Amino acid sequence: MPSSNPPSRRNTTPARSPRAGRSFPAETRPAGSGIVILDFGSQYTQLIARRLRELEVFAEILPYHAAPETILARRPAGIILSGGPASVHRRGSPRPHPGILECGLPVLGICYGMQLLVQLHGGRVAPTGRREYGAATATLRGSDPLLAGLPRKLPVWMSHGDGAKNLGNGFRVLARTETAPYAAIADPAKRLYGVQFHPEVAHTPDGARLLANFARRICGVRARWTMESFLEESVRRVRAQVGEGKVVCALSGGVDSSVAAALLSRAVGKRLHCIYVDTGLGRYGDVEHLRAAFKGYRLNLKVVDASPLFLRRLRGVADPERKRKIIGRTFIEVFDREAKRIRGVEYLAQGTLYPDVIESVSVHGPSAVIKSHHNVGGLPKRMKLKLVEPLRLLFKDEVRRLGRAMGMSPTLIGRHPFPGPGLAVRVLGAVTPERLERLRLADRIFQEELRSSGWYDKVWQAFAVLLPVRTVGVMGDERTHDYALALRSVNSVDGMTADWSRLPHDLLARASSRIVSEVRGINRVAYDVTSKPPATIEWE
Ligand code: XMP
Repeated sequence: MPSSNPPSRRNTTPARSPRAGRSFPAETRPAGSGIVILDFGSQYTQLIARRLRELEVFAEILPYHAAPETILARRPAGIILSGGPASVHRRGSPRPHPGILECGLPVLGICYGMQLLVQLHGGRVAPTGRREYGAATATLRGSDPLLAGLPRKLPVWMSHGDGAKNLGNGFRVLARTETAPYAAIADPAKRLYGVQFHPEVAHTPDGARLLANFARRICGVRARWTMESFLEESVRRVRAQVGEGKVVCALSGGVDSSVAAALLSRAVGKRLHCIYVDTGLGRYGDVEHLRAAFKGYRLNLKVVDASPLFLRRLRGVADPERKRKIIGRTFIEVFDREAKRIRGVEYLAQGTLYPDVIESVSVHGPSAVIKSHHNVGGLPKRMKLKLVEPLRLLFKDEVRRLGRAMGMSPTLIGRHPFPGPGLAVRVLGAVTPERLERLRLADRIFQEELRSSGWYDKVWQAFAVLLPVRTVGVMGDERTHDYALALRSVNSVDGMTADWSRLPHDLLARASSRIVSEVRGINRVAYDVTSKPPATIEWE
């Protein structure tokens, strides 16, 4: 969650960032050090960027209609045209700006992107008659640099219903499969390349090599984009943006805001003011962990205990959406009040990540827009501060790598996602201090057992949920009539879909028996075995 997002709002519509498409000032990167990917709406577009970055080649995604000036302002070494769900032979299908083929930069078209290249050069693309979806073997031909080091029989992943029927001027065939005569094509003189398959997906095991060949051998990218180089560049950029100004940052203790704060502390030191709003809805030991994690950093950290206010406002509220609204509003109010106490503050740091920034393309619906649905942009507008977003070019796993590169604690960097409204949405029904305490203790036991068994790092998110249901039990000779608790653990990549974790029975048994014997008021523990969809990860 971006650092200054108030912990509120839950909706499921991916939001389009009003500032989408903006980026680092290009001049901070040397010319020819990266690749621009034009997004034609493929679900794999972000994967192309990630693969290139794993190869230490900087990659940025722009909408397919980006003007040549916009592209050239990034000073890229080459352009990739992504796949997409449309058909190039249909009227109104998305096209790149005609000028991009005149930029003189090498271009690689993937799937729909290749079909575009063929059509724009006088070739013909038509439906193949049947959709080709799945694994295939491409037989490579010739010794083009794109194919350097690849096996002559290349396992590839196909997903297309159209195909090139004949090629336009200048293209020759680099690979074919049993069903696709033009599986890879090239016009080396113009440095135009196309592949019908998807080199970016894991099912094309040597795909990364092909992308590396394009970036390094054909486009000539020399620079190595590493977390260390990113860190250096970001510190320089933040200093240039902020000058002698003061920055305020809402530290939540989560990975994004913590990494953003650590980076800003390097850039501006004591001119960084972090505010941690203690809502009283956090996990056991949250505040102590945060203080310990930031001990020794050059920054100002203020912990504001606002828990009485939050609990008062939540009294008697059972509706999850109302809970979220109350918490979000109260958070902004408290943060705003505290921030105003810092004299002369001009900047607000926010841990916005790349998936929230990429402008989604409406081709037939948006491209794979990863969740930005829990992000709320209320703070900056209200506070009239200028935004500093040092993580806006990073994917989530890159934020973790950046944290590691800065030597941050592995426990902090490996933390599971935690919802802004905190335990309030895990105490089902009305929130009371007693219920919160009960849940907090049970949750602590579950976390301890996950860590000691080595399972914490193998799952995406795990937590306990206190149910508003009493069940009958027996302890000693007495009958009990206490509350039931659910444990939830899921595996996921981005939180959009998830599967329940197959935790070992022994682990569940230990957690359950400890919870029932150590936490008063709980006499039954259930394990949630539902995936998302149809369920959500949280219960409220
Ligand atoms: P769901 O329950 O929608 O959750 O499957 C997906 C991911 O989002 C987190 N989540 C929230 N995060 N504010 C947040 O900052 C919220 O209101 C909220 N609701 C759910 C959830 O923990 C999971 O990681």
